[in-house]
Amino acid sequence: MERLELLNPKYSKFIAFLHKKKISLDKNAKILYLGAAAGTTVSLFSKIVPNGVIYAVEFSWKPMRKLISLSEDLDNIIPLFFDANKPDEYKQYVELVDLIYEDISQKNQIEIANKNAELFLKDEGLLLTMLKTKSIDSTRNPREVASEEVQRLDTKFNILDIIILNPFYKDHTAIMARYNHKKE
Ligand SMILES: C[S@@+](CC[C@H](N)C(=O)[O-])C[C@H]1O[C@@H](n2cnc3c(N)ncnc32)[C@H](O)[C@@H]1O
Repeated sequence: MERLELLNPKYSKFIAFLHKKKISLDKNAKILYLGAAAGTTVSLFSKIVPNGVIYAVEFSWKPMRKLISLSEDLDNIIPLFFDANKPDEYKQYVELVDLIYEDISQKNQIEIANKNAELFLKDEGLLLTMLKTKSIDSTRNPREVASEEVQRLDTKFNILDIIILNPFYKDHTAIMARYNHKKE
């Protein structure tokens, strides 16, 4: 497989993230992907975890149709046509995962991450959320908005990194955090 960090960082926020920070994922890793769209980044994960699974949640029908076609070619992708705000509705289809990747551009993105982590993230599992700070407050400094949003993460998370995706995605900040079920 090509080295992903050598790909164009404008292709995907995940590639932009890899230009700034290295992370390693096991080939068998299980991923819950919230906001899969037509599967551009999902298909990258499919190569990174060839023996794993990507549960790809998307609630808009137009991109979902493409995601379904993609999953017919890449058999480690499971498309789920659901609202990520309502994880109870898809919990029978998803197992415990090593990583939740979230890219949904919603104001309540952190709340959605918390709900999904509680149900699906393994102990010591990772959250990587691409926060669109402009969707939360377009008038304020993105770093300030991101610092406030991080405070909304469940206390079970330990924050590992906050990375502004400038200059590739001006309005986005990546937050990486590790979940500990026992932490108060
Ligand atoms: C920025 S796009 C995602 C791009 C994609 N992650 C990629 O890199 O290829 C955001 C997607 O999140 C989806 N989305 C937003 N809110 C959602 C929700 N509550 N549940 C499921 N999907 C949602 C939108 O329909 C849209 O397709």
